[in-house]
Amino acid sequence: MRSIPILDLKAQLASYRDRALIAMTEVMDSQYFIMGPRVNAFEAALGEWLQLSSAVGVSSGTDALLVALMALEVGPGDEVIIPAKSFFATAGVVARLGATPVFVDVDAQTYNVTEALVRPAITERTKAIIPVHLFGQTSDLGSLYQQPLTERPAIIEDAAQALGSQLRGQRTGHLGDLCCTSFFPSKNLGGFGDGGAVYGRDEALLEKIRILRVHGSKPKYHHHYVGGNFRLDALQAAVLQIKLEFLDEWAAQRRVNAHRYNEAFAALDLISPDRLTPPYARDQEEHVYNQYVIRTPRRDELQSFLRERGVGTMIYYPSPLHTQPCFSELGYVDGDFPVAERACREVLALPVYPELSVDDFQYIVDSIKYFFHS
Ligand SMILES: Cc1ncc(COP(=O)(O)O)c(C=O)c1O
Repeated sequence: MRSIPILDLKAQLASYRDRALIAMTEVMDSQYFIMGPRVNAFEAALGEWLQLSSAVGVSSGTDALLVALMALEVGPGDEVIIPAKSFFATAGVVARLGATPVFVDVDAQTYNVTEALVRPAITERTKAIIPVHLFGQTSDLGSLYQQPLTERPAIIEDAAQALGSQLRGQRTGHLGDLCCTSFFPSKNLGGFGDGGAVYGRDEALLEKIRILRVHGSKPKYHHHYVGGNFRLDALQAAVLQIKLEFLDEWAAQRRVNAHRYNEAFAALDLISPDRLTPPYARDQEEHVYNQYVIRTPRRDELQSFLRERGVGTMIYYPSPLHTQPCFSELGYVDGDFPVAERACREVLALPVYPELSVDDFQYIVDSIKYFFHS
């Protein structure tokens, strides 16, 4: 039987393996592991790729969000608006700072928050909004992105799954005040371990983040703030800088795979509310498809069927954030955010990685066809 994983990282290794080994050997020989020239060079390359003046490498996507909120001095008494459907980190960082996560429902097509969903949740205590660009598609906060910071809460984009995605021609990082991404290995730009970055338009906040990531000190041992150890390793930076060169190509191939699925499902007459709904893309060219997520009311059955046929799938995420036990004190109940809740019951991510072979792709499509037509 075949075995097709949800993500095959080994398949892309061939394209950069030799260069990564050389770069890692150079780091080892230099014995310069923390910050230093490798991190600076990667930050400059990432900033240039993003068409921003700079980017700040940090220890993970979670720490990117945490340090961004710390730079904004988010704390007890403050509210931060976040989608009810995201990875836990988006909510966890808010709670860890003693602030209150204020959940809002998501759009049924994109699974992202919108201006219409966010605006009614803004109060005098709202310090920040974190739109999550889920699965690789940018959240559209409409006119909120245009307003000056003095007239709205701060906007921290969570682009952990969406490095390089766009909204009407603008890359993430150019929309809010700060933007956070993750280099967790399964992300479109994945390292050999944990890593992340903060970038964006607000240079003053980025400078503060550079200080916060080294325990708030500048120069060393002179502490302006109580920061933390949020540093990116030189070894990660060395690998990430090489992989960055492939990022556009990989995203393009993910789009090709997504498009092929859409066409195949349409040709097989599988697209209907009682069968499956392919992911909605506002603009195919602006989506980076960290995940290709279909929805179907027969999700669990389909997942077991595909598992038996050797096809790996994932559920992002089986439960929404507002009903997680750790947030029970906030008083949310099942039914508060029906769109997010239903999505959690119906979504299923299929393999979309750039190196997915035509044969494997066909096998997945045939399996899904067999499931719905038999
Ligand atoms: C939407 C979102 N936010 C934040 C994170 C946290 O990133 P990391 O795992 O690098 O800490 C992730 C990672 O899965 C994510 O998907």
